[in-house]
Amino acid sequence: MKKINRRQFIALTGTAAGGAFLVNWLWERGESSQTSLQAAINLPSLHKSTNGLLQVDLEASYRPVKLGDKQAYLLTYNGQVPAPRLEAKAGDRVRIRFTNNLSQPTNLHYHGLHIPVTGNADNVFLNIQPKETFKYEFTIPQNHRASTLWYHPHVHGLVAEQLFGGLAGLFVVRGDLDDIPEIKAAKEEFLLLQDFALDGEGNMMSETHMSIMAGRQGDLITVNGKPNPTFSIPRNGLLRWRIVNASPSRFYRLSLENHRFYLIATDGGGLAEPIELNELLLAPGERIEVLIKADKEPGRYRLLNLPYDRGGMGMMGGRGMMGGRGMMSVDNDAPTILATVNYDSPVKPIPLPKKLLSVPVLPKSKQVRRFELNHGMAPGQGMVFLINGKPYDPNHMDTQVKLNTIEDWEIVNTGVMDHPFHIHANQFQVVSRDGKPEPYRAWKDTVLVQQGETVRIRIPFRDFAGKTVYHCHILDHEDLGMMGNLEIQK
Ligand code: C2O
Ligand code: CU
Ligand code: CU
Repeated sequence: MKKINRRQFIALTGTAAGGAFLVNWLWERGESSQTSLQAAINLPSLHKSTNGLLQVDLEASYRPVKLGDKQAYLLTYNGQVPAPRLEAKAGDRVRIRFTNNLSQPTNLHYHGLHIPVTGNADNVFLNIQPKETFKYEFTIPQNHRASTLWYHPHVHGLVAEQLFGGLAGLFVVRGDLDDIPEIKAAKEEFLLLQDFALDGEGNMMSETHMSIMAGRQGDLITVNGKPNPTFSIPRNGLLRWRIVNASPSRFYRLSLENHRFYLIATDGGGLAEPIELNELLLAPGERIEVLIKADKEPGRYRLLNLPYDRGGMGMMGGRGMMGGRGMMSVDNDAPTILATVNYDSPVKPIPLPKKLLSVPVLPKSKQVRRFELNHGMAPGQGMVFLINGKPYDPNHMDTQVKLNTIEDWEIVNTGVMDHPFHIHANQFQVVSRDGKPEPYRAWKDTVLVQQGETVRIRIPFRDFAGKTVYHCHILDHEDLGMMGNLEIQK
């Protein structure tokens, strides 16, 4: 087992089990369906494939929901926050009949899934208008790795706002990792992390120019739509947490009192062996899977979100504006409690797995590209966020790569804030950070590039040709221009 202390991880996405509340359910079903109240409470909001087909209707609309005991008015899929969890296996066909009942255009992006980027699959250039219905349909490749993925809207200019309204759900691909005996024996939980900025009535607050520059954040943090939920774990057992940072901008730096984490998977699937960690860092969009050993004294332990400085915009008005970066620095000092773990009656001890999956070494690439992340002022637009000096232009093709080749990309952050860099459709491996080789191989689709840092990644462009995007997953930055078009050419 590899041991890396204080190593930080970034991940984003999420939703969790648990699920919908009565009020959501009633809204979703309307008068048409009269199931018993029993069934309505804690509706598992889970849609699984059967006989190779995952078929589901999703509707985006503005609805009242409950976040714990707090009333809120949010954007939902099927009236639920987080959205229904979708589950399929490699090789399955997926059919989603999607209806937009929002007042804005929207669409669905399947973050992390390796599927076509064109037509009615993972096509982020679709604009589904209010009241329109669109049928998504695709096949998950036979050799897709088991992974914790997610779905959310992706219409450029509206992504942060719609995600922050609550539109996010888990998309789970089952397979290899789930079949490892120790992992199978572990108790599986999903933790979809979201934050919300609500007023006293539960309405979404409007954002200021400054909060959008920094990336919008809210004070109300929820795990699976609840503030501080309790997870139980049998004493001596193993807990498998599959964590998604589904916040548009907030970073999560997680620690569990008296416990360590054993990292088993990142964005794109399982590692070669568990990695022992004290803390987990998840930037927006990232996912991680960890095992937790319940071998401490019986009791209750808190999952804490520790402070993390993701940089700020002191540069906007020079150092003077309320003390340099202070003004837009977003995390306060006190740790907050995200969830509680409670020990149940004991079971026979379950050991940690020693070996997980094989993570192949990617051959070195001759094609190296450089992407510089920064920000600047644009006439008439104010602050813009840039890749290689340019804000996103939907009509410009920024990067063309050849299908079935491997490339090295060097992502250089010369700005004053951290930027999680995300590429659609293909998982990559981090090669090095500031020239230092990454300590282990892992599949990622989103990688944190800290202020001043250079991260080198290696990307195989496999199976699917077409046009898609890469961008900063602080989604306000994406909406403000930190995105590029990518064409994978046949
Ligand atoms: Cu999670 Cu382009 O997005
Ligand atoms: Cu994505
Ligand atoms: Cu950014």
